[in-house]
Amino acid sequence: MADEKQMHYDSDEVVRSDDGVGVDFARIVEGRIGRRGLLQGGIVAAFAASPLGKAFSTVGGSAKVAPEGLDFVGIAPSTGSEIVVSAGYKSEILISWGDDFGQRGSAVPVAEMTADKQKTAFGYNNDFVGFLPLPFGSESSDHGLLGVNHEYINPELMFNVGDDVQKVTCEQVDVSMEAVGFSVVEVKRENGKWSYVPGSKFNARYTANSEMVVSGPAEGDARMRTSKHKNGLTCTGTFSNCSAGKTPWGTVLSAEENFQSMFGRAAYTSDKDKRSAKRYGIASGQSEYGWENHYDRFDVSKEPNEPYHFGWVVEVDPFDPDWAPRKRTALGRFRHEAATTHVTSDGRVVMYSGCDSRFEYVYKFVSRDKFDPTDRIKNRDLMDHGTLYVAKYNEDGTGEWLPMVYGTGPLTKENGFESQADVVIDARIAGDLLGATKMDRPEDIEVNPVNERVYVACTNNSDRGKEGKEGANKMNPRNENRHGHIVEMVEGSGRDHAATTFTWELFLVCGNPEDEATYYAGYPKEKVSPISCPDNICFDRFGNLWIATDGMESSMKLRDGFFAVPTDGPDRGNLKQFMASVPGSEVCGPEFTPDGTTAFLAIQHPSEGLLWGEWDESWPEAGKPPKPSIIAIQALNGAPIGSAEANAVSRRDALSGLLGR
Ligand code: FEO
Ligand code: CA
Ligand code: CA
Ligand code: CA
Repeated sequence: MADEKQMHYDSDEVVRSDDGVGVDFARIVEGRIGRRGLLQGGIVAAFAASPLGKAFSTVGGSAKVAPEGLDFVGIAPSTGSEIVVSAGYKSEILISWGDDFGQRGSAVPVAEMTADKQKTAFGYNNDFVGFLPLPFGSESSDHGLLGVNHEYINPELMFNVGDDVQKVTCEQVDVSMEAVGFSVVEVKRENGKWSYVPGSKFNARYTANSEMVVSGPAEGDARMRTSKHKNGLTCTGTFSNCSAGKTPWGTVLSAEENFQSMFGRAAYTSDKDKRSAKRYGIASGQSEYGWENHYDRFDVSKEPNEPYHFGWVVEVDPFDPDWAPRKRTALGRFRHEAATTHVTSDGRVVMYSGCDSRFEYVYKFVSRDKFDPTDRIKNRDLMDHGTLYVAKYNEDGTGEWLPMVYGTGPLTKENGFESQADVVIDARIAGDLLGATKMDRPEDIEVNPVNERVYVACTNNSDRGKEGKEGANKMNPRNENRHGHIVEMVEGSGRDHAATTFTWELFLVCGNPEDEATYYAGYPKEKVSPISCPDNICFDRFGNLWIATDGMESSMKLRDGFFAVPTDGPDRGNLKQFMASVPGSEVCGPEFTPDGTTAFLAIQHPSEGLLWGEWDESWPEAGKPPKPSIIAIQALNGAPIGSAEANAVSRRDALSGLLGR
């Protein structure tokens, strides 16, 4: 979602080059920009100024000797209505909303969509994309399962309801409830073309109506009991699934983010419930989508504990469609953006997750037990036992992971916590009491597979420094932060992800490079691309960071896109744009096949901001209702993305142009 409480981008917003009011850039430079970055920046600047450097920089705006995996011609920012990819690459649609992957195997026309048809069709607003090779455990890059999140719905684009989504009919709510959640779909590549496999035994939908298991500290807790789920051990449905993470044992941890937007009419009486509802934003008036007009479980006055079933990380097993998804309550309840796992140096499993709201926290969980590569069934319960932590960043570049354990520190009866269930259910409140650091909307968090540093995308926070709100600090260096930044963390002594201390520095401070408030890991800014609102991120196998954005239309009047930047070496910070998206959309996924020859991207909410019938710039087909879709990007010659071989054609063309022949 583009922004909490701001689903539609605001086309009246104007970007000014002096954006970032109240910037104290000198403070950033003195503070959390690493000496390593400055040193490298100096070296690169000296190189760029040399005759050789100037010659290199004329080819596609990038150094001729590209870092491994980043040998592509950066594209210019886009304002167009089509997908743009780097020269020498192609983008093809793999699957769209309404594509039936049951036995029918064809697209359901938008006007003919029913809840029954939606049950076996690809959902709306695709966000996370995970590629799981088939057969299980292989490194196949031609055959696998895609696990995809469907975050939310755009009723104003799915149905002819005008601009009042409260007018949706019960039948339209039924479609919507089947269009959110999670999809598993088998995909394969033949002759260079990706397609989905209708009728595969793996194809599955998990929706707002799917039955799930509650596990971990909150299972059976009084607040998990509803009229339907009297023992609090089960619950119905998942929605608001934003980003996610694949586990080393082949499941997906799907993160429930803006669940509060589905609930209305909260009328709590107990102090505990009232405190929680306030901190989590459960509305006393109408919900954002009006489902409570048709189903009591979204009417909190009638089913007060239903909101406690959401805001969790849900584990789904794409290889086992009969296994009921688990709400892993040990991982805490908040507006989870992502759930990224990493095996620690001692074999335990860590999960990182941010709470994506303004002034919210970064969390991690460290499992009690070790990952056992030979016991998949046992691994499936690793996320039930361990320690949840919340991050405290210090301005001197150090930081601590504060344990969220009932009975320790302030997490006691005096402060309203009676059990670990209370701690995980009200993790945000526990974070407040512990003194965690309020960040600028932490979105995706990923571990670099090469240097093992941890990267946190803070997408933006237009409220920072506003009256009554916390002002800029070294971790969140700009007031009215429109463009976001990326924090780079080193756990413990370097590769110990279970450590309780870390160091950190700013890696990117996004924006227009001409704005002095931007920072690209010390790289000369005249050579980099504009970027704003980093959201979903991933790494290629060389350790380069790839960034998908959400919000550049409102912050820069440019399409969102997909960018890449080296994290080490002389090109650290040299950011280039690889792809640009279509109007109204954000770019999600992103995911590479193991061999790096395909990048899967999710184009979420195309045409958002328009209404039914306003189809002039629709995507993928102008004149028709827009369809969120997964695209597959490949080099025209099939070589790995970013390889010299993939770039051979465009480099030859560029050089012949340069030499006048
Ligand atoms: Fe669903 Fe924070 O983006
Ligand atoms: Ca976002
Ligand atoms: Ca997001
Ligand atoms: Ca990611």
